Amino acid sequence: MKIRELNVRFGNKQILKNINFNTDNINTIGIVGESGSGKTTLSLAITRLIPKKSISGNILYDNIDILSLERKSLMWYRKKVQIIFQDPYSSFNPKIKIGDAIKEGLDIHNIGTNNERKKLVFEVLEKVGMKKDDYDKYPHQFSGGQRQRLAIARALILNPELIIADEATSSLDVSIQAQILNLFTSLQKSLSIKYIFVSHDISVVNYFCDYILVLYGGQIMEFGPINILKKPTHPYTQLLLSSTPGYSYYYPEIIPKINVDSNCPFYPRCYKKSQKCQEYNGKYFYLSDNNFTTCVNI
Ligand SMILES: Nc1ncnc2c1ncn2[C@@H]1O[C@H](COP(=O)(O)OP(=O)(O)O)[C@@H](O)[C@H]1O
Ligand code: SF4
Ligand SMILES: [Mg+2]
Repeated sequence: MKIRELNVRFGNKQILKNINFNTDNINTIGIVGESGSGKTTLSLAITRLIPKKSISGNILYDNIDILSLERKSLMWYRKKVQIIFQDPYSSFNPKIKIGDAIKEGLDIHNIGTNNERKKLVFEVLEKVGMKKDDYDKYPHQFSGGQRQRLAIARALILNPELIIADEATSSLDVSIQAQILNLFTSLQKSLSIKYIFVSHDISVVNYFCDYILVLYGGQIMEFGPINILKKPTHPYTQLLLSSTPGYSYYYPEIIPKINVDSNCPFYPRCYKKSQKCQEYNGKYFYLSDNNFTTCVNI
């Protein structure tokens, strides 16, 4: 997938600005940023779950601009790219049997006979560590962790190439979270799926992802291989690490009192700000082929 100059606007509010990145040759890319930074909006935009009129730019998948797809060809895209949300409690209709909810994708895409569809649901239940008997149960009969397994099963039923997991483990206890991350890892190995893994928790992204994209105020601050976290260059990435348990990154508490006009969204909280910050225009400065920052002061 190639994202080019993606902007999302709701009314007169610009939510995402000039987002560019490629997922080619990357198995798992983590999108990190605090609440309100635009992670969900980005996830919804690239799954085409936001009205087209709010989006500009290009989202290329297999070199096809998915923003130009109409209903029928959008079905093609929906098979390839699936999304899983944070809340395993609200993502299933309480009145629909789990098996039927998972089967829905096959019904919509008219794949196989009803018996064949059921068989595929049994298989996918097994893949996520659930049982055949779970088919006839209702969402309330499962724990949060089990429900997230079922949400993964529903995402897997159409054999997607890419799964976007938006805070998919954030509401789970640490031990359950680890189990779900292990499940993601083993599914990736057996089914060669790519993930875009969205989280406000940089330590989970550090553990799970090959690449990281750091969002702040709807703009990319930094992008690169996960090992950039060993020596982060962007002040916002440094701040995220300094406030994460287990990371002893030091972020100066004193913010300089200078007053320049800067378009950098992080300017008010940045310890490193200087006169130079007035040059900020969102341009990407490449530190290597696959690593860029938007900070003008590195
Ligand atoms: N439908 C919407 N209409 C207007 N503003 C929205 C809408 N959805 C999200 N926003 C705003 O967009 C910003 C980013 O939100 P979101 O993408 O949910 O961030 P995150 O997932 O990182 O917490 C927030 O300021 C939020 O209030
Ligand atoms: S451009 Fe300036 S304000 Fe923005 S992150 Fe860099 S140093 Fe901080
Ligand atoms: Mg969100």
